[in-house]
Amino acid sequence: MNIETIAVSGGLNPKDSQNAISPPIYQTTAFEFESIEHVSNLFDLKEEGHIYTRISNPTTSILETRLNELEGGVGALCVSSGQSASLISILNIANQGDEIIASSSIYGGTFNLFKVTLKKYGINTILCNSNDANEYEKLITNKTKCIFVESITNPQVSICDIENIAKVAHKHNIPLIIDNTIATPYLLRPFDFGADIVVYSTTKYISGNGNAMGGAIIDSGNFDWTKNKEKFAQLIEPDESYHGVSYVESFKKAAYIVKARVQLLRDLGCTMSPFNAYLTLIGLETLHLRMQRHCENALKVATYLKNNKNIAWVKYPMLETDENYNLAQKYTPKGASSIVSFGIKGGFKQGIKFVESLTLPFHVTNIGDTKTIVTYPSVSTHKQLSQENKIKCGIGDDFIRLSVGIENIDDIISDLDNALNIAIK
Ligand SMILES: Cc1ncc(COP(=O)(O)O)c(C=O)c1O
Repeated sequence: MNIETIAVSGGLNPKDSQNAISPPIYQTTAFEFESIEHVSNLFDLKEEGHIYTRISNPTTSILETRLNELEGGVGALCVSSGQSASLISILNIANQGDEIIASSSIYGGTFNLFKVTLKKYGINTILCNSNDANEYEKLITNKTKCIFVESITNPQVSICDIENIAKVAHKHNIPLIIDNTIATPYLLRPFDFGADIVVYSTTKYISGNGNAMGGAIIDSGNFDWTKNKEKFAQLIEPDESYHGVSYVESFKKAAYIVKARVQLLRDLGCTMSPFNAYLTLIGLETLHLRMQRHCENALKVATYLKNNKNIAWVKYPMLETDENYNLAQKYTPKGASSIVSFGIKGGFKQGIKFVESLTLPFHVTNIGDTKTIVTYPSVSTHKQLSQENKIKCGIGDDFIRLSVGIENIDDIISDLDNALNIAIK
């Protein structure tokens, strides 16, 4: 099936639920066992089935199957937020004393999680300030567990050179994890370019309506954990917290994603609620239509800003003048999603005036909603970062981020125009 068809009905089998063709919400905490043998088999992971919603739930399973089909993986795990998806994707392979390599232009929340919080628990993040695979290679040591990057970065809107970074990662027997939140599988499927694991904040475009927090991890099943038995021992050696199971031995290609669920989701408890899984499924049905309109509107907004004398710079990879244009033609030929970042002439004072003069966009810290959103990163998403880290993330005082929605484009542009005229008199 093609992406559009999977987005509408993937994972849904009406026979499983009274022939209902809208996904039912299984609002239950626990599932009754049929017998002692049944419960034993479930706990021994010999039989598939639901035990307790912290670990799995039928509504969430439909979403997991749909996301897995959209990406072409061996399995998916939904969690309570994008943050918990990123956290689990790392904790599933990294321990105290290990290192991970991450792009320095990852989302501010992920930056803090990796650089500050994970550090307290002994996992060190080495930042790469380049999109050049050779620069990533220089940072790999025998402690490196993975490379983590965003396919389209937030809020810098640059496009990651997935194929070449994957080659470098595989040369050193480490997996490449991609946060594909901004691209979505409609614009880019990272596994097609050699990535091993994909993570999402489903809170954004996947659910699309700005009403359901969620995250997901999808495993390509392509990474061979046994090539470096010492480094990835936690997937190969018996797990003392799960009566000695070896994930690789028992689940072969699905080892990573099974471990993420039965060990880490079980222990951390950052579960997606069945109701949020339902909302996300309903949102996914229109993913392709929304993404088309987001891309169309974003390019028109970027072109308008590019030609406006009051704008110092604009970043949108589909602009022919953008430094990421060639990468966008390779990785996201259908469009580069909804984020347009730009700098207003005059800096902070004019930036504040501009944001406060807008009437159509919602002033919030979110992206990927149907509604147009404006965010001022230096006073919001990136405010917690030190000045040094703000500079590392490329966030200056003039930096404004738009997530262009699916409204009428003339209305969006006329509101931007009006606010710019007020801000710069
Ligand atoms: C690219 C990206 N990844 C992850 C996250 C975190 O997702 P959540 O807010 O669902 O925890 C965000 C949030 O803005 C994001 O933009």
